[in-house]
Amino acid sequence: MSGKISASLMCVDFASIRDSIRALEAARVEYLHIDIMDGSFVPNFTLGPDFVRSLRSMTDIPCDIHLMVWEPERHIASFSPKEGDIVSVHAESTVHLQRTLQMIRDTGAHAAIALNPATPLYSMDYVVDDLDAVLVMTVNPGYAGQKLVPAALQKIGETRKYLMEHGSNALIEVDGNVSLENAVKMRELGADIFVAGTSSLFMKERSLLDNAQALRIAIT
Ligand code: DX5
Ligand code: ZN
Repeated sequence: MSGKISASLMCVDFASIRDSIRALEAARVEYLHIDIMDGSFVPNFTLGPDFVRSLRSMTDIPCDIHLMVWEPERHIASFSPKEGDIVSVHAESTVHLQRTLQMIRDTGAHAAIALNPATPLYSMDYVVDDLDAVLVMTVNPGYAGQKLVPAALQKIGETRKYLMEHGSNALIEVDGNVSLENAVKMRELGADIFVAGTSSLFMKERSLLDNAQALRIAIT
């Protein structure tokens, strides 16, 4: 299976969002990555349920909702997850991780666990059967335009090995500084879904379509 692109919507120009969505459809990106922040679990604010609602009225591209909030179980329903969407919750953000992953699956969406760069893989030990995907953070979450945390690359390979050893088919998604150069390495290490933000898809020098095409080649 070729790598899939999840376009990071916190990186679009909101003044021309309709045009961006049309371009993302033309580029056939597989997911729209929507960063949800609460100003506490991560030190920033971004998008919310109203944004997701209006997005759904504009396009059928599945949503990839990344919840960077404390107690995500309190907020899942407000995003009305759909079949084919991905919803990620951070291992560090809830004491009821298994129940929260199950709540996501009950909506029909794919359940993913997100791991900050310093979070060990053994955080998945007792929830591995509840996972459809693992979101390996390759920067500390909260902001676009950051530099890759070097140890995170190695962690992608270790995650692939961990999943194989646990008999899991969960996909690996990577988020943060997915440049063309880093994407090639991430792909080799076993990543399946690539969050594309300012480091690739939304680089201003070229059109979105050209950027998407270059990224496709990097992750084939
Ligand atoms: C954080 C975000 C960012 C960003 C990725 O969860 O998902 O990592 O949009 O885009 P870059 O790192 O390329 O700006
Ligand atoms: Zn994200």
